Amino acid sequence: VLGLANAYPNPEPLNGTIPRNTNATIDPSLIRRQSDGKLFLYGTGPGPTGNIGGYVWTADSLYGPWTQSNDSALSEECDAPNIFEADGIYYMFYAKPFDWAALGYTNPNASIDSHNKALYVRNSTTLEPLSWNDDVNATRLLIDWSQNYNQLDISVILSEEGQYLASFGSYQQGIYQIPLEPTLDAVINGSGTTQFNMNGNNIHHLAENFTWITDPVPNTDLIEASFQFYWDGYYYLFFSSGHAQTQAVGSTSIWSNAGDVYKIMVCRSVTATGSFVDSAGQSCLESGGTEILATHDLIWAPGGQGVLNDTEVGGPIIYYHYVPRTSTDGAPIGGGYSFGWNKLDFSGGWPVL
Ligand SMILES: *[C@@H]1O[C@H](CO)[C@@H](O)[C@H](O)[C@H]1NC(C)=O
Ligand SMILES: *[C@@H]1O[C@H](CO)[C@@H](O)[C@H](O)[C@H]1NC(C)=O
Ligand SMILES: *[C@@H]1O[C@H](CO)[C@@H](O)[C@H](O)[C@H]1NC(C)=O
Ligand SMILES: *[C@@H]1O[C@H](CO)[C@@H](O)[C@H](O)[C@H]1NC(C)=O
Ligand SMILES: *[C@@H]1O[C@H](CO)[C@@H](O)[C@H](O)[C@H]1NC(C)=O
Ligand SMILES: *[C@@H]1O[C@H](CO)[C@@H](O)[C@H](O)[C@H]1NC(C)=O
Ligand SMILES: *[C@@H]1O[C@H](CO)[C@@H](O)[C@H](O)[C@H]1NC(C)=O
Ligand SMILES: *[C@@H]1O[C@H](CO)[C@@H](O)[C@H](O)[C@H]1NC(C)=O
Repeated sequence: VLGLANAYPNPEPLNGTIPRNTNATIDPSLIRRQSDGKLFLYGTGPGPTGNIGGYVWTADSLYGPWTQSNDSALSEECDAPNIFEADGIYYMFYAKPFDWAALGYTNPNASIDSHNKALYVRNSTTLEPLSWNDDVNATRLLIDWSQNYNQLDISVILSEEGQYLASFGSYQQGIYQIPLEPTLDAVINGSGTTQFNMNGNNIHHLAENFTWITDPVPNTDLIEASFQFYWDGYYYLFFSSGHAQTQAVGSTSIWSNAGDVYKIMVCRSVTATGSFVDSAGQSCLESGGTEILATHDLIWAPGGQGVLNDTEVGGPIIYYHYVPRTSTDGAPIGGGYSFGWNKLDFSGGWPVL
């Protein structure tokens, strides 16, 4: 029925405090500890112990109550973490600033915010904050700097063929993917300082959106925050499209209109490395993507999503951040990102909330 097409459900009601921080919970990563079923929710920094590290929330149930840890996730910057479990070890992939000039990169763009990041991995056996071998330097994934991508928003999957694959990318030219070694701490063929590059190896370009946003400032290629998930014969590529935040216009910061702020898209493919298409068959390298959640009711700019196949609800859920607003009449007043989740139904082949 026209007009009802975008009737999205509200996040599941939560008991107690909804995980929400002044600037976070942005880019949530949710995982359940195998040993005791405790849930851990990590997000982008700043954390409680300074302007670094990221907040961590825990709960026994998806419905809460959620408890905020007094410790930061890490003792260093922790951007858009993705936590992945393999053989009983937890791996946290995340981004932080990197001095590309020190490696000889002369492109001045390599020192611009977001473009000055690199991807790192740490591991833990407990998932607890500060348990991520914080006493040693994190291992950098040796990916060349490129004008084509930002090294941000990593997501890892184990393909049905047994290959670990990391997707990453934030704006620039969209979402890319690289294979990882079985040890999960290196890109395949990575050695030296910067080995994995656009011109060689198996880097896959998965998605790009060429459509321009005009409000409030013209911009294109605004997709990021990919999340790879396998379900019943298909690899699904979830991503966030549009502006995650307010945009600087002169001396003020304003939101885009509701259609141009974060919304959640999905594409799928029968093979893990692509080609990804949307439900209309449009290539996701040519602006394709099927919207599954966008601004509605008091939920503004939902995104930064992940998917978890969870025992508590007996199936997959999608979790995300959103900006709460007090009126359906437009953008929120004030900031702050809250955590929400909904069940995800794949029974029709394409996921719906
Ligand atoms: C939130 O972000 C703003 C802008 O980056 C910063 O000025 C402020 O200190 C942050 N607040 C907290 C609690 O970290
Ligand atoms: C909220 O908490 C109460 C008391 O612990 C519990 O009985 C109820 O099931 C919880 N609600 C949800 C939706 O989990
Ligand atoms: C955090 O610290 C406060 C103040 O010391 C304490 O009341 C609270 O229980 C602590 N929270 C956790 C999760 O340990
Ligand atoms: C730096 O980035 C801008 C904006 O994306 C682009 O137009 C420009 O060509 C880039 N410069 C170089 C040297 O790559
Ligand atoms: C965890 O990280 C440490 C430090 O980089 C490394 O020595 C160790 O091999 C890693 N463990 C696993 C199981 O990956
Ligand atoms: C790794 O390098 C070897 C030798 O150059 C090449 O044959 C192989 O295809 C590369 N593997 C990947 C995954 O790029
Ligand atoms: C691509 O960008 C346009 C303009 O912002 C937007 O309307 C559209 O929903 C986006 N599509 C995808 C798949 O990101
Ligand atoms: C989802 O989890 C259930 C157990 O909760 C498991 O039986 C099923 O195999 C899982 N499915 C996938 C695709 O991971």
